[in-house]
Amino acid sequence: MSEVSIDVHRDGAELTEALRHDVREGLSAPVKWLPSRWLYDARGSELFDRITTLPEYYPTRAEREILATRSAEIAAVTSATTLVELGSGSSEKTRLLLDAGIAHGTLRRFVPLDVSETALAASADAIAAEYPGLAVHGVVGDFTEHLDFLPGTAPRLVAFLGGTIGNFLPGERAKFFTSVRSVLSAGEWLLLGTDLVKDVDTLVAAYDDSQGVTAEFDRNVLHVLRTRLGADVDPAAFDHEAHWDAQREWIEMRLRARHPMTVRIPGANLTVHFEDGEYVRTEISAKFRPEGVRAELTDAGFVVRRWWTDAQQRFGLSLAQVRD
Ligand code: SAH
Ligand code: TRP
Repeated sequence: MSEVSIDVHRDGAELTEALRHDVREGLSAPVKWLPSRWLYDARGSELFDRITTLPEYYPTRAEREILATRSAEIAAVTSATTLVELGSGSSEKTRLLLDAGIAHGTLRRFVPLDVSETALAASADAIAAEYPGLAVHGVVGDFTEHLDFLPGTAPRLVAFLGGTIGNFLPGERAKFFTSVRSVLSAGEWLLLGTDLVKDVDTLVAAYDDSQGVTAEFDRNVLHVLRTRLGADVDPAAFDHEAHWDAQREWIEMRLRARHPMTVRIPGANLTVHFEDGEYVRTEISAKFRPEGVRAELTDAGFVVRRWWTDAQQRFGLSLAQVRD
């Protein structure tokens, strides 16, 4: 077993305070919404892992296919000594990058960062056990706030996989790319996974599967409101919906009230009314076009060195370098 350390930048009390703030803002808005990071407590992370194995959820398989083909090239092009992974979850596909970096002889350290403390601890421990000689330094934190704390020596490779970039609104995306760029030095690397625009049926099925796992995952945010803020909301009173917004090219996840109701949320000192059929937006998942990804990375100060897709061109992976 190699060395593992974990830094916690967000403890339980801070999380509850941040959730209280988000709930008061989002559930008082004319169109109700909740930030998607609240989907991921221990139960949410487990449900997400089940999503990645569903027949309808192609992004994981498509991205794994690209990584399986390109990891050796990524290791050779970057010669990274540190692999940082943002929103690492179970880091399942990441093992392909670890294997290639170690085989190339340069990779020494792995730094996974995630808000979900249980998922992070489990994957950091598993990877430390599987990779003797690799220093594993986990960070429990928020990738919109805690990038300044990234350890490791240059050249670092920052991986942001799974299409999680699509969960930001366009303005937040630009801010995020700029903040990643600003914590890196010239010559360091970003590996970005982006799901691509495709036919509506494939997209919608990926976010509304036949077994209902995605619906249960989406409703997990209501379980989090119950446990963290004592809300008396009944998750079963909401239907999950995946709506394709063709103009903005994103999937919008919604929880729609099956009947009128009043929800009390003592931990946020808030009472919320729902009309029959009123919904809460829980997540967006934007889909990309190759030229759009390139433009956004270039605007933030990166040069795109490689662009790959899977054989069916469902998913894109960009390897970008901080411009001098
Ligand atoms: N990278 C994995 C998991 C993607 S799911 C994969 O490709 O399969 C998104 C991950 O990002 C989850 O593990 C979730 O806990 C984490 N996450 C979501 N919002 C976050 C935030 N604001 N800061 C840090 N991690 C976040
Ligand atoms: N990053 C994942 C994605 O956009 C997150 C995700 C997958 C998700 N399925 C979901 C979020 C269902 C909310 C509901 O593909």
